[in-house]
Amino acid sequence: MSDASPRRARPATLGQLRKRATHCTACPLYARATQTVFGVGAASATLMLVGEQPGDREDIEGRPFVGPAETLLARALHDAGIERQSCYITNAVKHFKWGLLGKRRIHKTPAQREIDACRHWLLAELEAVRPQVLVCLGAIAPKAVRGRGFRLMRQRGQVLDTELGVRALATLHPSAGLRMIEPRQRTRALAMLIADLKRARRRRR
Ligand code: URA
Repeated sequence: MSDASPRRARPATLGQLRKRATHCTACPLYARATQTVFGVGAASATLMLVGEQPGDREDIEGRPFVGPAETLLARALHDAGIERQSCYITNAVKHFKWGLLGKRRIHKTPAQREIDACRHWLLAELEAVRPQVLVCLGAIAPKAVRGRGFRLMRQRGQVLDTELGVRALATLHPSAGLRMIEPRQRTRALAMLIADLKRARRRRR
């Protein structure tokens, strides 16, 4: 190979990315968070699940989906016939944005500029994993996986092409069920999530 031939840089490994993200100060959220919560899972994962942002527990433990939403996510994955080992799980925003309610730290919705500042990590994770389908859990991830005419939440449950070169589907966030008071609504939200995850599973090659 001549020196002039173009060489494509190898994508960074997940380990390298995780290490680099530890020092991320791309938006002010890092200042009030305990740590960066990077994605978890194997580079060989076929599904990438993208949540919103770490919650209180995730911020302390440094892993996505270990708090109250985890139980529902685990149940939905199980009922959809998806093994957790086949998933890479991450968030659109990697630092916890919070406010105080009494003594409790409660989640505050990240602004678009914070989602944008974090987007390069999601793109790097996508490059390292190259999943067959990306599943956006809730309304924040579609704002990171944006693109012309891409209206994921309006097209909930549909597997769509994106300009990121990966097919994506948006569905309800597992916590949506937790916030619903009516048991019937909770059951319905969970059923929707399971149906959408099944659709994503079938679209894997
Ligand atoms: N909700 C999310 O969107 N992500 C987490 O990691 C935890 C709760």
